Amino acid sequence: MDTGLTGKNVLVPGASSGIGLAIAQALGAEGANVVLAARREDVVKAEAARLPSAVGIAMDLNDDGAPAALVEAAENAFGPIDVLVLNSGGPPPGGAADITDEQALAAVNQLLLQHLRLTSLVLPGMRERGWGRIVAVGSSGVQQPLPNLALSNLGRAGLAGYLKTLAAEVAADGVTVNMVLPGRIDTERVASLDSAAAKRTGATPAEARAASEAGIPARRYGTPAEFAAVVTFLASAPASYVTGEQIRCDGGMVRAY
Ligand SMILES: NC(=O)c1ccc[n+]([C@@H]2O[C@H](COP(=O)([O-])OP(=O)(O)OC[C@H]3O[C@@H](n4cnc5c(N)ncnc54)[C@H](OP(=O)(O)O)[C@@H]3O)[C@@H](O)[C@H]2O)c1
Repeated sequence: MDTGLTGKNVLVPGASSGIGLAIAQALGAEGANVVLAARREDVVKAEAARLPSAVGIAMDLNDDGAPAALVEAAENAFGPIDVLVLNSGGPPPGGAADITDEQALAAVNQLLLQHLRLTSLVLPGMRERGWGRIVAVGSSGVQQPLPNLALSNLGRAGLAGYLKTLAAEVAADGVTVNMVLPGRIDTERVASLDSAAAKRTGATPAEARAASEAGIPARRYGTPAEFAAVVTFLASAPASYVTGEQIRCDGGMVRAY
């Protein structure tokens, strides 16, 4: 399949490891110019240097001015953004009953507002040019809220509602807006969640992982590359009639339709 991504300008926050890095690598392999952003400057710059056409930019996406500074730096590097990937770190685990205002506001800033701001910055140009792709990294928790990840469930539900509404507003302008929902993809984040689960239950991290894998029909975690393949399709030219969707990449974990 010709993805039509050669020469397209792609912005991937949260790209120093895990899912974001795999997406940057997959889109870079399709010939896109890729901007990788994350807090660890040495890592994003080193990863960018391994791709055919890429730059690494250091930024903390939770900072107030980060979306505007990031889009400006990305556009200075390659020009207007054609493909925006919405991705960053996830909030800490914990239940819903004891959430404070401060924690809820931080999760909403991290998972919704900063992504909304990034989107608002690149959207007018995409609409003017009649082509754009916005692909958000969500979570299976959007469709089946995850126990002990209340902040993630809270913030991502808001993002899902915003993106679904937006998809209908911009579809006629050639801009598609979709979410890909990871179940358990084998990354640093999942390893740290397994360690936290192990501490709570008195198991080892390996036992916590085995218990988690046993609940997945595929009986294993997905790889970041498997996840990135779904994002690559949604970012591609042939995906032009797919919008407003949430596509799970979870080995069958969520049982709902
Ligand atoms: N893996 C899964 O199965 C899974 C499941 C559900 C949801 N998710 C969500 O998917 C997203 C990616 O997860 P992942 O598994 O790839 O996690 P990961 O391996 O921990 O990667 C997170 C990436 O985000 C960057 N990051 C974290 N905080 C940041 C900040 N404040 N500003 C800029 N960059 C930041 C990290 O780099 P630096 O440390 O260099 O900044 C890293 O590159 C997260 O939101 C996660 O909660 C993942």
